[in-house]
Amino acid sequence: MKIIAGPASQLLASRVARELNMEPTLCEFNRFPDGEVYTRILEDIVDDVTIIQSTPTDADLVSLLQLIDACEDAPTITVVIPYMGYARQDKSFRSGEAISARAIARTIHADRVITVNIHEKSVLEHFNADSYDLDASHLIGNYIRSLGLEDPLIIAPDKGAIALAESAAADVGIEYDYLEKTRHSGDTVTIKTKNIDVTGKEIILIDDMIATGGTMAESIKLLRSQGAKDVYIACVHPVLTKNGVLRLYNAGVHEIIASDTLEKAQSTISVAPLIADFLKNL
Ligand code: R5P
Repeated sequence: MKIIAGPASQLLASRVARELNMEPTLCEFNRFPDGEVYTRILEDIVDDVTIIQSTPTDADLVSLLQLIDACEDAPTITVVIPYMGYARQDKSFRSGEAISARAIARTIHADRVITVNIHEKSVLEHFNADSYDLDASHLIGNYIRSLGLEDPLIIAPDKGAIALAESAAADVGIEYDYLEKTRHSGDTVTIKTKNIDVTGKEIILIDDMIATGGTMAESIKLLRSQGAKDVYIACVHPVLTKNGVLRLYNAGVHEIIASDTLEKAQSTISVAPLIADFLKNL
């Protein structure tokens, strides 16, 4: 099997390859003068391949499609999309709206597709491939446990993240709870608490992704005003767009914990073992 690293997942793919005692195949990624994306695999592909490429931008999606196309002589193609862009657009709210996650998934033709904590699991049904979603919550739970906190509590900032909170809390052996979120726009939310006693506790807010940071920033402010000692935030996908990092630090975050499904300075947890184990057991 060959491992092919897309431009958005160079570090993660290298880590997966290392777990499998392999070296990723080298590729050339470039742009034409008009901005179009250029991709070339620098080896003949005649073996099974695993392509690893997150798709945070439209250009990253095009690179992934080009890599799949360039592997057309491979006996089997496995595509790993650690972070899938557009996955939050999984429903049509008004007539005439595209279900963007479905539109994107339908462009991916492969033998199998693997995602990591995809925002909405029903999107998996739209890939032209067998599809699997891996769960990084245990890696986050183990990281939280390694912090050796005195009186920690895991909190989901909304109901959608309760499963993640429950799973990570079980790994640490502590309690979890959740807040009530109302979204007003792409980057404005209000957060209400229930009757959670956070006084003097180290709170770890956990969500599948942090995008503008609005959800986490409002949650941090609320919990600190209620007497939380330190507020950590943890996510699988550190999208961290716009002023996300600044908003979180301005809100008083203690530490941002994230995985390398997106390769950011905050990506201290690697999902490589999760992906490598899955590939080993195929
Ligand atoms: C939404 O349901 C997701 O789980 C996240 O809560 C959301 O995407 C975070 O976005 P933002 O950081 O922009 O508030």
